[in-house]
Amino acid sequence: MKNVWKYSIIAALGGFLFGFETAVISGAEQIIQRLWQLDSFWHGLTVSISLIGTIVGAIIAGRLSEKYGRKSVLSFIALLYLGSAIGCGVSPVWSIFLFFRFLGGLAVGISSVVGPVYISEIAPAKDRGKLTGLFQIMIVSGIFIAYLTNFIFKGLGEDAWRYMLGIMAIPSIIFYFLLKVIPESPRWLLLHRSKEEANEVFQALGQDAYVGIQSTSKENKYEHVNLFQRSYSKPIIFAVLLAFFNQMTGINAILYYAPRIFEMAGFDQQLAYLQPIFIGGTNVLFTLLGMSIIDRFGRKKLLLVGAVGMVVFLLLTAYGLKAGNSTYLLAYIIGFIGAFALSQGAVIWVFIAEIFPNEVRAQGSSLGSTTHWVFAAIVSWIFPIIVEKYQEGGFYIFIFYALMVLLSFVFIGLMPETKGRSLEDMDSTVGH
Ligand code: GLC
Repeated sequence: MKNVWKYSIIAALGGFLFGFETAVISGAEQIIQRLWQLDSFWHGLTVSISLIGTIVGAIIAGRLSEKYGRKSVLSFIALLYLGSAIGCGVSPVWSIFLFFRFLGGLAVGISSVVGPVYISEIAPAKDRGKLTGLFQIMIVSGIFIAYLTNFIFKGLGEDAWRYMLGIMAIPSIIFYFLLKVIPESPRWLLLHRSKEEANEVFQALGQDAYVGIQSTSKENKYEHVNLFQRSYSKPIIFAVLLAFFNQMTGINAILYYAPRIFEMAGFDQQLAYLQPIFIGGTNVLFTLLGMSIIDRFGRKKLLLVGAVGMVVFLLLTAYGLKAGNSTYLLAYIIGFIGAFALSQGAVIWVFIAEIFPNEVRAQGSSLGSTTHWVFAAIVSWIFPIIVEKYQEGGFYIFIFYALMVLLSFVFIGLMPETKGRSLEDMDSTVGH
């Protein structure tokens, strides 16, 4: 296997832990609520503390990875995941559990920036979509495995949640040790160390030494560049809007509350627990499909085709909930997941990591990712409130998601196509 693939897969393991960490709580939350007798406020906080961690993580990730390099930050993340898995698994009291869930969220937020940035910086332009897309493949695999292990551990009684959360220690350790073999990002080395060091890595990756980078990078020692300048306004707007529309599809309301949605539609509990496995499996399959065509068809085409599918299936889901007709509900939701995975899911992390110029890539990705996590938190916080409070809440909220996806057509029409262009080429046309 070519080195660039090997290194990308290793860095993308941070995505696997991201997916696992965000999905695992869906199977554990009810047992935890019973154990510590939490009322709905404290229970809500227990579930969402990790999302608060993701926001903080995404905010600090840019600066951290600029200062210490991409590779060291990835190793730090692996340790955070490990600490969170062990800490949550053995927590004797609720407050300690809360603290370790926060640490896990912190790791997710930092990974969502540094993983894709690292991969996009070692990838050759023609395969960058596929390679950075490995990160999303790992996220959806992590989600799928969490659903599966939750299902397996469910029968282990009152301590089941400890196994569900603690098992994450194993992939964290593997991630930590595998990271030892990857090189530092050559584009980071070029800005923060020397051309010679960058050159060595480019050659080891089988790429020509810093193709085109000389023209845009500085000869002198790197200085911190402020992201918020007029010249970066375009990539800022595109990254923020893509992250916003990504979450406004409602994807995480569905992923985090799948059993609840199925119960709402009248499925019995046992089935309601099995459905997430179908959802997770569809997510993996369609992400693989999206990745295999992203560099051929481009980012925009995928987004457009997927948006059409999402609107149709979101409307059908709304209709299914209103009519109280659960027969086809699973099919509609699976249709939505497929359309999301093929488009928004496949594109988001690839695009956010490639649209910014070298000197502000980490900061820009931080901003895009922070936007993503803020809206992920809002969407998953509001969803249960609306469906509990209003009789037809489920119907209206899915209509709202469909309208938001319709609105995203305007944005997709305006965004630049980044397929096949070198990062430096984008510096000159998108960034400046
Ligand atoms: C994308 C989304 C993320 C979601 C995941 C599900 O990564 O950005 O929020 O959980 O897809 O497949």
